[in-house]
Amino acid sequence: MRKAFGRFQVLDGLDMEIPRGRITVIIGRSGTGKSVTLKHAMGLMSPDEGQVFVGDRDIWRLGGAERRKLRLRFGMVFQNAALFDSMSVFDNVAFVLREHSGLAEEQIHARVRAALSDVGLLFAADKNPSELSGGMRKRAGLARALVHTPEILLYDEPTTGLDPILTAAVDKLIVDTHRAHPGLTTLVVSHDMQACFRIADHVVMLHEGRKAAEGPPSWFQSTEDALVRQFVEGRLDGPMTVE
Ligand SMILES: Nc1ncnc2c1ncn2[C@@H]1O[C@H](COP(=O)(O)OP(=O)(O)O)[C@@H](O)[C@H]1O
Ligand SMILES: [Mg+2]
Repeated sequence: MRKAFGRFQVLDGLDMEIPRGRITVIIGRSGTGKSVTLKHAMGLMSPDEGQVFVGDRDIWRLGGAERRKLRLRFGMVFQNAALFDSMSVFDNVAFVLREHSGLAEEQIHARVRAALSDVGLLFAADKNPSELSGGMRKRAGLARALVHTPEILLYDEPTTGLDPILTAAVDKLIVDTHRAHPGLTTLVVSHDMQACFRIADHVVMLHEGRKAAEGPPSWFQSTEDALVRQFVEGRLDGPMTVE
């Protein structure tokens, strides 16, 4: 798959597969195309060349209506939780259902309460997002992604900017959520190696718009590959240059 913005080639022959039902973590340096890859995975961006399959369906061969339906099989947890501060936590979580599901308000209420309870945030339903702590905001963002029972859950840098304890809590939340939803495919973009080793079944490392390495976390811990070692250990010397 290839994708450029103007003359800047971001994805340059990326070829990867996300195993169904497992937790895959995509790692790589800032600006290497991880968020762009997530946007391609859920059909929010189209590749210049190449294809994106969800199961056996090629996203960009579908009609617009089919593609929108397919996107509803995805849930996305954004880096900054992206909550609307003008509505309550409850209404934030209800938003997607009210926009897209056609469900009656009573059913929406039941689903929202279930999603909030799933992440331990039912007590905060009537609060405004601005009243929540960082960890609670993360959980609200997760409830919003879970409320339409997605098959594929994407997290973009879920722990960036959090302290180590909160990072561990969010990592645990990702694993607990994955286990609580049998069959769920989880895809996490991260540049935190600790988190990666804590939560991943499968790791894909991107570098310069391509897959540089992939394997189980244990392989990343023990490989002698110079590029992987430099990234995993956060060293200045090695094949990756620092600008
Ligand atoms: N919509 C866009 N328009 C122009 N450039 C973009 C766009 N989205 C991403 N880019 C560029 O593509 C590169 C990769 O971005 P991104 O996938 O966000 O990196 P990261 O690996 O840090 O998530 C960056 O240089 C970014 O500036
Ligand atoms: Mg990013």
